[in-house]
Amino acid sequence: MQTLLLQTKTPGQLGTAAKAASQLLSAGACVALPTETVYGLAADALNDKALLGIFEAKERPFFDPLIVHLPDRVWAARLAHSEGELVQALMEAYWPGPLTLVLPKRAGVPDVATSGLSTVALRMSAHPVLNAVLEEFGRPVAAPSANRFGRISPTSAQHVLAELGGRIPLVVDGGPTALGLESTIVAPDGNRLRILRRGPIAAEALAAFADVIEPEADNVIPEAPGQLKSHYAPRTPMQLVPFGIAPTAQPGKACGLLAWRQAPESSGFAAVEVLSPSGDLSEAATRLFGLMRRLDEAGLDIIIAESVPENGIGAAIMDRLRKASSNE
Ligand code: TXA
Ligand code: MG
Repeated sequence: MQTLLLQTKTPGQLGTAAKAASQLLSAGACVALPTETVYGLAADALNDKALLGIFEAKERPFFDPLIVHLPDRVWAARLAHSEGELVQALMEAYWPGPLTLVLPKRAGVPDVATSGLSTVALRMSAHPVLNAVLEEFGRPVAAPSANRFGRISPTSAQHVLAELGGRIPLVVDGGPTALGLESTIVAPDGNRLRILRRGPIAAEALAAFADVIEPEADNVIPEAPGQLKSHYAPRTPMQLVPFGIAPTAQPGKACGLLAWRQAPESSGFAAVEVLSPSGDLSEAATRLFGLMRRLDEAGLDIIIAESVPENGIGAAIMDRLRKASSNE
């Protein structure tokens, strides 16, 4: 299959791309679209056959449910029980934005989208390109990150082509994604809020809305199946050093370094990438997956990664680094 890449730099290009994407979605095909977090592989959320195409292209196991992206908030009430006060307050505060809500689903949401669970994950993205497509399409799309299963999420259209080129008909290019990490996933649990996946909206911010139950650092129970221990992984083995410990290259090996703030002097590393020279965690999050990918393509034997401070979005970065360096 030939994969078409469409730009969205001008209003004319955006209109053309949105129409093309919408037509393909209507025909039951999958298309890759940008969001503010990472690129997603979208299909009609209410069409079983279309959803199967996502699992096929990604080689994703069926036990891993999808996030449904909504054109507007009216759709949330159609697909799920979203009337609770806490849920409404979270939507008010963070939609559109990088927050996914796991809610009891209503009849009509395909089991393929939810892996047969009684809940559905809903999100409203703030990305103008995704929203132009959704407006044209008029229905929700299910969209997991547009990478092959277990691999690094794509933060540019080029990353999507590297992952899924030849497997899908269209990638809509919306430039590099602003946030760089997948959305925060939460599930209301009575008056409390459980974080199922850390992301751009940090536990500290959510604590203003409810008592927050944080995920354990090395949670191996795939309650949210994307929480499998090894995930977001480069092909090159990766090793994480504890915060504040100086990384050292391993003798006789081509070692890469994913540094937090600065490259060590004359260190013996064959390649070094720095997440944020100014020590800005948001910048580090935006750059994380692209730099991991670059090191993965550098022909190294091993990638050593430094830890980052674990406050704010730093906790989500550390979650990705731990999973990327786990071989379980
Ligand atoms: O930022 C994002 O969330 C991106 C963009 C494309 O929107 N999407 C994304 O999707 O990261 P994906 O499939 O890579 O991760 C979705 C995760 C799954 O790993 C799954 O564990 C969790 O969402 N999930 C989906 N439905 C769920 C449910 N009903 N209960 C618990 N977890 C669920
Ligand atoms: Mg993913």
